[in-house]
Order: sequence, then structure tokens, then C-alpha cells
Amino acid sequence: MKSELYEFSEKIQLTNRLRRLRERESVRTLMKETRLSSSDFMYPIFVDQRLSMREEISSMPGIYRFSMSDLNKEIAEVAGLKIPAVLLFGLPKHKDSSGSEAYASDGIVQQAVRAIKKLAPELVVATDVCLCQYTDHGHCGVIRNRTVENDETLELLSRTAVSQAEAGSDIVGPSAMMDGQVQAIRQALDRRGFHQTAIMAYSAKFASAFYGPFREAAESAPLWGDRRSYQMDPPNRREAIREIEMDIKEGADIVMVKPALSYLDVIRDARNQFHHPLAAYNVSGEYAMIKAAGQNGWLDDKRVALETLTAIKRAGANIIITYFAKDAAKWLREANQ
Ligand code: PBG
Repeated sequence: MKSELYEFSEKIQLTNRLRRLRERESVRTLMKETRLSSSDFMYPIFVDQRLSMREEISSMPGIYRFSMSDLNKEIAEVAGLKIPAVLLFGLPKHKDSSGSEAYASDGIVQQAVRAIKKLAPELVVATDVCLCQYTDHGHCGVIRNRTVENDETLELLSRTAVSQAEAGSDIVGPSAMMDGQVQAIRQALDRRGFHQTAIMAYSAKFASAFYGPFREAAESAPLWGDRRSYQMDPPNRREAIREIEMDIKEGADIVMVKPALSYLDVIRDARNQFHHPLAAYNVSGEYAMIKAAGQNGWLDDKRVALETLTAIKRAGANIIITYFAKDAAKWLREANQ
């Protein structure tokens, strides 16, 4: 005797079966719409002028602040993993009210750029252009009457970018969110003959709580107040497009959305509207959450990391700035063997 269920399934004549293309790993590989590769990554590196040995950042397991002497080994490893680019952040010996170590010709980032260029000339070196790691108050610009003065700050950001270009930086990345910073830096670079130095603008950079671990790592938390008078308000999607549009008009070569995971819609909007190379910054808090949950055994951090990096690429980013770069490059290599 036929059951009711059996009779029902007999009647069904399915034409379309999406599961045909999910059957085996080899078929799934062929069908992948988004392929993550180590060539998508830019790896952030912290260099600390006060250290003689590298120190792990407690809220970012596996990520270190490097001394100049430890840097070589790290760079060799990054290059060996076929990661095409690094993004440098510096921690200076001295901080002051105008962040003068940011634009010192022998500043820590300038020294690191020269060392990396000697060691791995093919590696793309990008440098963060901001003052917050270098100022004693921790804000991204000059303070007047307890506010960050926009136009005066442009001068210091321009000097920082020029000194990094002099050291050999390929890409300068203004992240201070001052109006007109891209234009000011482009003019300053061109005046000094650095026509070939590219600008990666942190265009849509939101005032995000996901920067917490970075601020511990870079000791760059503001002493008072917060960054909401210059970084973007998280709810604003259209304003992000205005920021990107302005930076492109000012001469940005690469534009960025930051953070990445809570802003995948903004990445997609930017991809649909602009043809410039688009970077997304998978920030410190996004890394820390996955690492912490992994260490607790709450999820599989390797799979979650690869899933999120794939999502960032699927949303439309073609450069992914991520602390997972080294790990992910190793995982992808293992998977392809
Ligand atoms: C400097 C800067 C910050 C980050 C990159 N550049 C911190 C901030 O704006 O407070 C954050 C990166 C991260 O969280 O990984 N202005």
C-alpha cells in the first residue's frame, strides 16, 4: 500500500534543481562567483619606536607591535605568502600637541618604509596619514578651543604624506577625516615632484566602536571627547557616497569604506556607483571578535574569517585590508594544495 507521502512525490516533476551544481567539491569550485585570494589583501603592520622586541597586542591575538629589528622577519613572511601590500602604522617615542613625529624625516614610519623597500622592493608599501598616534591628546588634528581645527590640520597631514613619500611609500592613506585632506595632500605631493605616489583615501570612515582594539594597539584613544565631529555617523549611507565623490574629485586613486562588516551595503553602493579601485578595512574589532570567539571554542574562527573576507569581496571590495591576511593566505594555500 502506497503512503500518502509517496504518492505526492511521484507527482512532482522538478525541472530546476539547483542542487545539481552543489553536489561535489569540484563542481562547487567551478561555480564559485567570488574567489578569495591572497592577492586581495593588504596587511596592517604596527611599528613601535620604543620597542627592542616585538610585543603581542592583547586584544588582537597573533598581531604584534614590531621593533625595527623584528620587522625584517615579518616582511619576509608577508612577501613569502604572496600578500602584495602592507599598510604601516607608527608608534613614536614622543608625542606632542602637533604630532610632529608623524612628519619627522627620521620618524618611525619613515624608517620602516626605507627598511622595507630595501628588503622587499616589490612589496607595495602603504602608509597611514593621521596624527592621532602622534598627538599627546590623541585627536587626529590640531586642537583649538577644544575642537579639531580642519584647515590647520591639512598642512600637517600634507607634511606627513610628503615625508612618507620621500621615504619611499607607494601609497599614502589619509585617515584623519578632515575636509579637503585629499586635495591638500595631492597638491603637496605634486609640488614636490611625487606625481607617482598614489592616494588611498579613507573616504567613508565611520565613527565606529569597532576601532577599540586598534586604539589599544596604537595608544591613540582621544584623551577627552570622541571622533564624532570628524568621522562619519554610522546611519548615513548617502553621505558616504558624497564623501567618496568628493575624494575622487580631489584626486583619490583608491577609495575606502571602513569598517567593512557592518557597512557591506555601503561597499556595494560604492562599487555600483564608482569605477575607482575600492578598499574595505576589516578593522581591529572585527578581527578581535572572531579571534575571541574562536579561542573560547564558540565558533570555528578559520571558517568564520574566510566567510567574512569572502563577504567583503562579494560586496564589491577589491582590496581587503585585514589582520587576517597572513592566516587567510596560509589557509587558502592549504586549500589549494
Ligand atoms: C587612525 C586610524 C584608526 C584606524 C585606522 N587608522 C583609528 C581611529 O580612527 O580611531 C582603525 C583601524 C582598526 O580599528 O583596525 N585615525
